[in-house]
Amino acid sequence: MAESMQGLKRTHRCAELNEANIGENVTVMGWVQKNRNKGGLVFVDVRDRSGLIQIVFEEGVTDEAMLDTAAKLKSEYVVAVAGTVRARQGAVNPNLATGTIEICPSELRILSESETPPFPIEENSKTREELRLKYRFLDLRRPDIQRNLMMRSKVATLTRQFLSEEGFLEIETPFLIKSTPEGARDYLVPSRIHQGSFYALPQSPQIFKQLLMCSGYDRYFQIVKCFRDEDLRADRQPEFTQIDMELSFVDVDDVIDVNERLMAKLFREVLGIEVPLPMPRMTWQEAMDRYGSDKPDIRFGMELVDVTDTVKGCEFAVFRGAIENGGSVRGINAKGQGGMPRKKIDKLVDFAKDYGAKGLAYIAVQEDGTVKSSFAKFMKEEEMSALIEKMDGEKGDLLLFAADKNKVVWSVLGALRLEMARQMEILNKDEYKFVWITEFPLLEWSEEENRFTAMHHPFTMPMEEDIPYLESDPGRVRAKAYDIVLNGNEIGGGSVRIFNQEIQSRMFEVLGFTPEQADEQFGFLLNAFKYGVPPHAGLAYGLDRVVMLMAKQDSIRDVIAFPKIKDASDLMTEAPAAVDKKQLEELGLELAEQ
Ligand code: AMO
Ligand code: AMP
Repeated sequence: MAESMQGLKRTHRCAELNEANIGENVTVMGWVQKNRNKGGLVFVDVRDRSGLIQIVFEEGVTDEAMLDTAAKLKSEYVVAVAGTVRARQGAVNPNLATGTIEICPSELRILSESETPPFPIEENSKTREELRLKYRFLDLRRPDIQRNLMMRSKVATLTRQFLSEEGFLEIETPFLIKSTPEGARDYLVPSRIHQGSFYALPQSPQIFKQLLMCSGYDRYFQIVKCFRDEDLRADRQPEFTQIDMELSFVDVDDVIDVNERLMAKLFREVLGIEVPLPMPRMTWQEAMDRYGSDKPDIRFGMELVDVTDTVKGCEFAVFRGAIENGGSVRGINAKGQGGMPRKKIDKLVDFAKDYGAKGLAYIAVQEDGTVKSSFAKFMKEEEMSALIEKMDGEKGDLLLFAADKNKVVWSVLGALRLEMARQMEILNKDEYKFVWITEFPLLEWSEEENRFTAMHHPFTMPMEEDIPYLESDPGRVRAKAYDIVLNGNEIGGGSVRIFNQEIQSRMFEVLGFTPEQADEQFGFLLNAFKYGVPPHAGLAYGLDRVVMLMAKQDSIRDVIAFPKIKDASDLMTEAPAAVDKKQLEELGLELAEQ
């Protein structure tokens, strides 16, 4: 029964109408949200991406055939309605933007019918995510997801506007490339013409943007897809979008300045929030010491306290052992949690073990001043009091301690601090706390590969004063690298690049590349560096993460139109999928026996 819309033209989106339109003839088109038939009186809510409008069909007023059609409308039918806007005759709906008006129709057309959808199209759906993703085209009709995607579009538009005004050029870089070094696994694309050879999809445009600097484009940006074959989480997708930029003739402060103003503009114009500038900065070392994390959530305190010196002389083997092995003992104070039942504390111990702890020692200070503790029996009374005092422990507090190598202690307490904040419900989603983390270590020891690897990437500039230690003590060399962190999420990261051939060669050597290997992998970049390279630096945001936080969502899947699930598959299209034998033959590929 589908009709054409010929002769009708949409004049407004549904929720663009308001009391100022009363008396006007308008035409709206959209989906039937709800049809309430009260016998001779039919209320139909029509929905589009702006919201809902109520249409009232009434016996005696509405043409009889139209009233019949209206009574037959089902959810998700697509309709066109022409009519006059009037003040609501019935009860006003204060929860609806158009709650004081309605349309008295002169024409109704069904443009297409709909089967009953597998789940209701409504806000805050309780439908399980797998079903929603299988029918993503329906899920995308839900107002909350539509708002997220509209916000995303606005963020992208404002970003383009801001960066263009700041003198950045938007330049595209290729997707079919040679491998880029961002540390994840590459997605490979087989070449038909060069059988046995593969393109890699970019993990980022890193090398190309540096080449653009060599070519004199001096300020580049791109809103660009990146591809990384890595384990997925709520904040990671195999393909995701970066706001990527690179600048010439700049140092750390210049990059930070332009990016602070970009973030301030986005938050002001999208959310109406003033971000105080300059944003706080913290070195990597300080972030680890205070928060146990290089992406600290600074919306709350509960900072780590180093109690190594306080417990140095004690008999407790766990503490002693950690200190003797060059590690430390640190704790956090979960205020007011001292009454936590033993079972719940045991759960925290298990939680800590998931992060690599061998155990978790605790002191629960009771309201009567006595203590419950897993290790009091190994301690002298004055040692316990000194420890509690060092932790600012008061009646009712729960003190949690990890003893191990620093790396483990940070990881355990960093995670536990967040877990306690979640349990104590002190995280406020309306609050936005940015912080820059600077002076990252240049290199990271990889147990797996038994060598140093670049913490950011091999083109990151060491801090000048640390360059002399590149060979003698690589672990202590700090980098001119920075991350921008929002509410405990790494939303962006970048660095000043090496533009000096000598330092680049030394860096490759420390990373264990022979000159031949470096040339084989990055020859074109090193070659470009021989012909006049400007000092340059850059940064890239995860756009999905920025929008996720702005939209107060828990997963980047909620701000991506067609996301993939944990196993990197797409439930709607069922990608990845097998291909024809013929396609494989053309590529010169054969599948190994499974
Ligand atoms: P980096 O690897 O830190 O830097 O990536 C920049 C930002 O991209 C986001 N991000 C992701 N988002 C969703 N899913 C993923 N799998 C994913 N991986 C990363 C994060 C991260 O902060 N070329 C450098 C930037 C530079 O040095 O200029 C780079 O890609 O928010
Ligand atoms: P144990 O002597 O092994 O029974 O441990 C005594 C207490 O110390 C228990 O509460 C353990 O959970 C805790 N513990 C064990 N290893 C560690 C560690 N590396 N850091 C902190 N606490 C630990």
